[in-house]
Amino acid sequence: MRVLFATAEAYPLAKTGGLADVSRALPLALRKLGIDVRLLMPGYPRAYVRIENPRIVAKITPALGVDDATLVEGTFPETDLPVYLVDSPSLYRRNGGLYQDDAGKDWPDNALRFAFLAHVGAEIALGRISLGQEWAPDIVHANDWHAGLLPLYLSLHSGPRPSTIFTTHNMAFQGNFPADWLTKLGIPGACFQAAGVEFYNQISFLKAGLRYADRVTTVSPTYAKEILTPEFGCGMEGVLRQRREDFVGILNGIDDSLWNPAVDPMLPRTFHLSDISGKRACKAALQQEMGLKVAPDTPLIGFVSRITHQKMADVILEALPWLCAQDVQFVSVGEGDPAMEAGFGQASELYSANASVVVGYDEPIAHRLQAAADILLAPARFEPCGLTQLYALKYGTLPIVRRTGGLADTVVDATATSIADRSATGFVFDEATSEELISALGRALSLYREPLIWRRLQLQAMAQDFSWDASATQYAALYSAASGMPVDLGAKDQHVVLADQESTRQAAI
Ligand code: ADP
Ligand code: GLC
Repeated sequence: MRVLFATAEAYPLAKTGGLADVSRALPLALRKLGIDVRLLMPGYPRAYVRIENPRIVAKITPALGVDDATLVEGTFPETDLPVYLVDSPSLYRRNGGLYQDDAGKDWPDNALRFAFLAHVGAEIALGRISLGQEWAPDIVHANDWHAGLLPLYLSLHSGPRPSTIFTTHNMAFQGNFPADWLTKLGIPGACFQAAGVEFYNQISFLKAGLRYADRVTTVSPTYAKEILTPEFGCGMEGVLRQRREDFVGILNGIDDSLWNPAVDPMLPRTFHLSDISGKRACKAALQQEMGLKVAPDTPLIGFVSRITHQKMADVILEALPWLCAQDVQFVSVGEGDPAMEAGFGQASELYSANASVVVGYDEPIAHRLQAAADILLAPARFEPCGLTQLYALKYGTLPIVRRTGGLADTVVDATATSIADRSATGFVFDEATSEELISALGRALSLYREPLIWRRLQLQAMAQDFSWDASATQYAALYSAASGMPVDLGAKDQHVVLADQESTRQAAI
């Protein structure tokens, strides 16, 4: 089976968040199952310089007013994952971010930048762009609003076409643009209606994906239920309810070639389930790096996140005065909303004895902080899946999360019962208020003072199996159902592997 996986970002070529992690890890996990997945993404300069063996494989026929595009094929660094970059200097070669300029303003031509990505995906899918070899996908897997027009463009084709899957990683990002883009993007007027791409009189790329794909997925089972309701559906709950039969939530996993404390090259010392002493060394090194007192027994609380309303950064700011009055240390690395970023900056000045804040995006610090911290703050008002809490678990750092979306699916609250039955892995609270956050922090800090229990919780957290294997198998089954093509998953072997992991997990606990 051949799959074209269309995405706007993929680590380490280009990343602003979890989509990039998934866009690398899931295709690699699917390739392990024998599925020939290839990536399609925009040819940002940063991606171009990072792929291996780049070569131009096709000149792209002018379309949507874009006449400078070629298709560049390469492979992901240190993997066998093929990637096609749409190289259009006018659309993607510019200084600034993936979606915004340096001042944080959306690029004014984002509609065209991502419609063109979708257009090229459709042309490849229909065999109209020759890749210099016999390769055409059986499945097109489009991710987030950026690739939302791809299922629509393919649905306009009357002949045979690959089946389409659309995954929404976050319903709050919708790619809505004024209706006068319609003709420029090659969308027939007939599609501009409530049963099509029209959303409050705009063109919605997200809605296009949800409406026109053969199957729709999101990234956790709980978020899949939540977004059928007005509270979480961001206005698209009706659209999703109509797709109920074709809609499923599949939990994200951890790419343990990148996020694994036993081999992570970004850590000063590695550690693993049977010997976590290296975690102490990581803590001491980070305390030093952040200008904090090297204090092995002071609880270190980390926050690695976009600084946004979704991630409850405002509520964390409210809780900081209380937190910093305790005998703890707080370290954060994050960027996002300028006013809240400033708030974190001020807090680190005000509480310089025990708080240290990095404003910005820094992958190595994110790894070092996950390894060094005792507790990770990972609350959210809504969370499609969330990866940082999964990384925390793997690094023996107990997460504090709100009971929503993928956070609810992945963290087990430490209560008397769950501590006794050894299922507890973190701390979960319900309301998005600083009182509830503080109360969860209070519970975490009191358990921290009980080293034997704490150690057991850490080991339970580290022993959780959030590897991609199981989720990739679910995607493979979905591809198979959508295309009618059998996929040979070596199901027997798969079972043996999963059973082995389970027994290792039980033994470790
Ligand atoms: P989201 O995609 O909603 O931001 P996720 O938890 O799914 O949330 O993924 C966030 C990803 O981005 C993780 O890999 C996390 O380590 C990373 N990340 C977030 N903020 C930063 C930052 N300031 N520096 C480095 N990595 C960051
Ligand atoms: C989005 C979501 C996050 C999810 C990530 C990858 O950024 O906000 O919850 O983990 O996509 O699917």
